[in-house]
Amino acid sequence: MHVALTGATGFLGLRLVRELLHRHRMLTVLAHAGSNGALGRITRFLELTDAPAELIAELPSRLHIVETDLGQPRMGLATAAFERLADELDVIWHSAGNINLDDDLAKLRRVNVEGTRNVLELAAASCRKPIIYHIGTAFVGGARRDGVIYEDELDDAHGFENGYERSKYEAEVLVHEWSRAHSRPVVVLRPSILVTDLPPHPELPEHPLQFIDQIVQTSLRSVGLAGLHIPEGSRPVVRMAGHPQGHLNLMPVEHAARVMVQLASRQPSGRVDTYHVVHDHDVPTTAITAMMEQLVPVKVELVENRPGDPSPLEAAADLYPGFTPYLSHRRRFDDTRVRTLLGPSLSGIRVDLDYLFAGVCSKQTTASSSVLR
Ligand SMILES: NC(=O)c1ccc[n+]([C@@H]2O[C@H](COP(=O)([O-])OP(=O)(O)OC[C@H]3O[C@@H](n4cnc5c(N)ncnc54)[C@H](OP(=O)(O)O)[C@@H]3O)[C@@H](O)[C@H]2O)c1
Repeated sequence: MHVALTGATGFLGLRLVRELLHRHRMLTVLAHAGSNGALGRITRFLELTDAPAELIAELPSRLHIVETDLGQPRMGLATAAFERLADELDVIWHSAGNINLDDDLAKLRRVNVEGTRNVLELAAASCRKPIIYHIGTAFVGGARRDGVIYEDELDDAHGFENGYERSKYEAEVLVHEWSRAHSRPVVVLRPSILVTDLPPHPELPEHPLQFIDQIVQTSLRSVGLAGLHIPEGSRPVVRMAGHPQGHLNLMPVEHAARVMVQLASRQPSGRVDTYHVVHDHDVPTTAITAMMEQLVPVKVELVENRPGDPSPLEAAADLYPGFTPYLSHRRRFDDTRVRTLLGPSLSGIRVDLDYLFAGVCSKQTTASSSVLR
């Protein structure tokens, strides 16, 4: 079975590579052309996470790297190369994406929507009719802040919190249209926010919540408070819009990749099968604000609406407005389909303040980053 993967150098993609290498002798990596060498980055990830030396030594012969730009027609490949590639494939994992919540919508669409269209075209061009595993996001649920979101839901009735969600929604709509038009199966895997407790490392992709550390440090610097000792009782208050009973689903990325690859061993229905790849416990919003307070000497106060008169510190702390609405979320993602196939999706990993802090805090040394997952 010949398997290809987009986004292999990403936060999730690297963990998918690791899981897929357990099951397949060869992988075709549809790497991002012009970006740093994919083979070197995958090798470094496996080294930093204590993969067996034997596996690392075999990588050059087990990974076939093809340079692509998903935003271009035929992924930037010449017609003959595109057709040759298509005819080799039995399975395509599509994990590449632009996950910058606040990026310009046109830029998000170029990778997330056009990229998906070009992956679907690759699958359509193949005489082997490869099955597609499309990595979506549970956040196509959009701006709906409470209630339960089910795996078969896909609509834009509630609008979206940011351009990223909209672009991922549009990509999933494309997937459905393609599946209907071609009578072909697609499996859509929708993780919630992916996290890890592997400490940040300059040679690894950024943790999706690492911006919190960067923003709080920048905001402190901007008001001249960086590095100062501020006694507990004198911490400046930062008001942020959020719900005191809010909660978010944060899924350990290593477990998510394992669940996804397990789901891929099941026979698809022939249409679009969608799965919520989520943790069995949500994390209270207050754990996120506690993490901010642990990173910098401020006191975060959740208020109903974004302050109309923000202090300079509050204005600087709100530098990633695409994320702020999540502090008000109280919704839950139903994952009955996953549980029906795989049993209770217990990762055994408790995502709490310590777990989050370990994966996000840039001040930790890299010595502890050599942890097998
Ligand atoms: N991270 C999360 O919390 C999360 C949650 C839910 C769903 N997801 C979904 O999971 C998937 C993977 O996310 P991630 O966290 O792994 O993102 P990531 O760390 O930002 O990785 C993105 C990957 O896409 C590749 N890529 C970007 N633009 C490309 C292009 N034009 N052509 C070819 N490749 C391109 C990148 O290659 P280079 O690094 O070489 O540029 C990288 O391998 C995405 O579809 C995302 O929407 C992520």
